[in-house]
Amino acid sequence: MSAAARAVVVPSRRAVTGRDDGRMTRVDRQHLGRRRRRASAFVARDVGGRGRSLSVVTNAAVAAFDVAGARIAGVGKAIPEKSLTNDDLSELVDTNDEWIATRTGIRKRHVITGDETLTSLGAKAAMQALERANIAAEDLDLIILATSSPDDIFGSACTIQAAIGAKKALAFDLTAACSGFVIGLVNGTQFIRSGGYKNVLVIGGDVLSRYVDWRDRATCILFGDGAGACVLTATTADACSLRGFDMHSDGTQNHHLIAQYVGDNGKPMSEGASNNGAFCNISMSGQDVFKFAVRTVPMTVNKSLKAANMSAEDIDKLVLHQANQRIIDSAAQRFGLSEDKVVSNIAEYGNTSAGSVPIALCEAVETGAVKEGDILAFAGFGAGLTWASAIWKF
Ligand code: ACO
Repeated sequence: MSAAARAVVVPSRRAVTGRDDGRMTRVDRQHLGRRRRRASAFVARDVGGRGRSLSVVTNAAVAAFDVAGARIAGVGKAIPEKSLTNDDLSELVDTNDEWIATRTGIRKRHVITGDETLTSLGAKAAMQALERANIAAEDLDLIILATSSPDDIFGSACTIQAAIGAKKALAFDLTAACSGFVIGLVNGTQFIRSGGYKNVLVIGGDVLSRYVDWRDRATCILFGDGAGACVLTATTADACSLRGFDMHSDGTQNHHLIAQYVGDNGKPMSEGASNNGAFCNISMSGQDVFKFAVRTVPMTVNKSLKAANMSAEDIDKLVLHQANQRIIDSAAQRFGLSEDKVVSNIAEYGNTSAGSVPIALCEAVETGAVKEGDILAFAGFGAGLTWASAIWKF
């Protein structure tokens, strides 16, 4: 905050009272007292280094309150060592490379083995993003982990926090399936914009190989494991990278894509106090989810574009959830975008759920496909059902 902005000018008597003689009534005095207290509270908050600043202080009032914006300072990703090709899967189920590649665009997916966990992938992606952002883990204020497959039912954000040494950060999980990262990005930006948070780490990652039924050819061909991360840092409100967003859910359609808990409810006052319940394998109505995605993705991106006061011609790169190449192509076609404006890595990784958008972004940055100043249209969709999009100036 500039020195000029720090110099809070308390309103003059005339400005407050509107009286030529400048004498104040009892009500005027109470009013002025309130304004003085509010002004000093604003200054105290900013002195605390939390990003809010007073942008305009006039003799009429403490007029405007310049809320901070957010930008991406660094991106990272982590992919499991082991990969499974379509040919590998054809040894498990009745399928083949030609069917999978034609219907989905997927050639390969990576799955965790050995010591790899969601925490280890999330921490690795986070460390890479922090290093590229040139921000120390100790300087993080907040960690949001978008995932549906934590290592612990209470969440994995805190174990990632411990693994990277982000001692002062608040860490929590956000569950919104494949829309999770986009919602996390908007959420992280809102934390910065509303003040109090300067550096926010948003991770998207899943290890759905734990929940896939490897005997079900309709689903096992789709999913892979992986994590991506981005570090958001505070900037001025004018330079805020988030230009528009749109987010939805529809629980009435939940049954199209589930991995539900089954088992007896706990019986604390009876014998057999612990139960042996567990989460089921993923069950999906592929065609219904396909139709839902083809319908909602263009709709939500259009709403975000409108909020950003932009149109499809402004999009430099479409960074969609990587679930099916045909869904990506359909959206690109609706927006009239040529192939070079569409980020796609589904052939290599399959559907990594909350990991897919940040992994795609990270690779696009690494290859130079996404450059500073580019307008990115992010969109995620999936279980819930949920869908969300954001327009981002990179
Ligand atoms: N190999 C060979 N044949 C197969 C396979 C397979 N792996 N899977 C299905 N088939 C067969 C079916 O049995 C069916 O045979 P039939 O005609 O004899 O009955 C035929 O292929 C067609 O099956 P459909 O299910 O109609 O195939 P479709 O073209 O819809 O493709 C797919 C299926 C790929 C799952 C597609 O529907 C899809 O991608 N849906 C969207 C999934 C999605 O996006 N999920 C995102 C959510 S992610 C999240 O939130 C975690």
